[in-house]
Amino acid sequence: MSSTRKLYDEWSATYDAVANPTRDLEKRACESLLGQHSFERVLELGGGTGKNTGWLAERSREVVSVDLSSEMQAVAREKVTAANVEFRIGDVTDVWNFGNVFDLITCSLRLEHVEDLVHVFREAAGVLVRGGRIYVCELHPFKQYGGSKARFEAGGVEKILECFTHHLSDYINAALISGFAIERIDEWFDGYDRSSTPRLVSFVFKK
Ligand SMILES: C[S@@+](CC[C@H](N)C(=O)[O-])C[C@H]1O[C@@H](n2cnc3c(N)ncnc32)[C@H](O)[C@@H]1O
Repeated sequence: MSSTRKLYDEWSATYDAVANPTRDLEKRACESLLGQHSFERVLELGGGTGKNTGWLAERSREVVSVDLSSEMQAVAREKVTAANVEFRIGDVTDVWNFGNVFDLITCSLRLEHVEDLVHVFREAAGVLVRGGRIYVCELHPFKQYGGSKARFEAGGVEKILECFTHHLSDYINAALISGFAIERIDEWFDGYDRSSTPRLVSFVFKK
């Protein structure tokens, strides 16, 4: 079992309960950027405990929510019972078999655990309809340069996940060479304080 999967299985017990400004700010980013739209078929990559899944289901005909960790997904399955959501266990670093013909892919706080961004964007391009979009929101590289990583505490021990630093150009170039155009890039700050280091960066790319 990969260490990422094992650690997320462990984190699932507290992921929703413990204060986490990165998690909460990403929800704000997702709702603000996608809230004006409705969708046919959405593929949610790394849906985790379902923070965004129910919200996506309310504005979509169907949602496929994929995660590596069965324990993270078990929390989501309890929380999100909408009939138009299909949960699947899967690894986005493998060849995808999550179905195709999606008009939106969302990817929230998960690419820091993936080394090869091009693989993800190439697979995404293969399952999106023409004009379909991929929304990506990640810990800002400025935070990564300072040593920030996904981490949690269990039994008084701090657990740190394996993370890869991705520069802004890495996201943009991986998307461009996979056939996407960039539609938006936004930076997200704690407490709307734009004089501070941004916590998150988000992108909307269009096929
Ligand atoms: C920080 S959590 C974010 C969960 C959710 N998107 C959110 O914003 O709250 C990252 C999620 O990505 C999942 N994950 C990590 N590596 C993955 C991979 N290679 N394939 C699929 N899911 C993965 C983890 O199991 C975890 O649920």
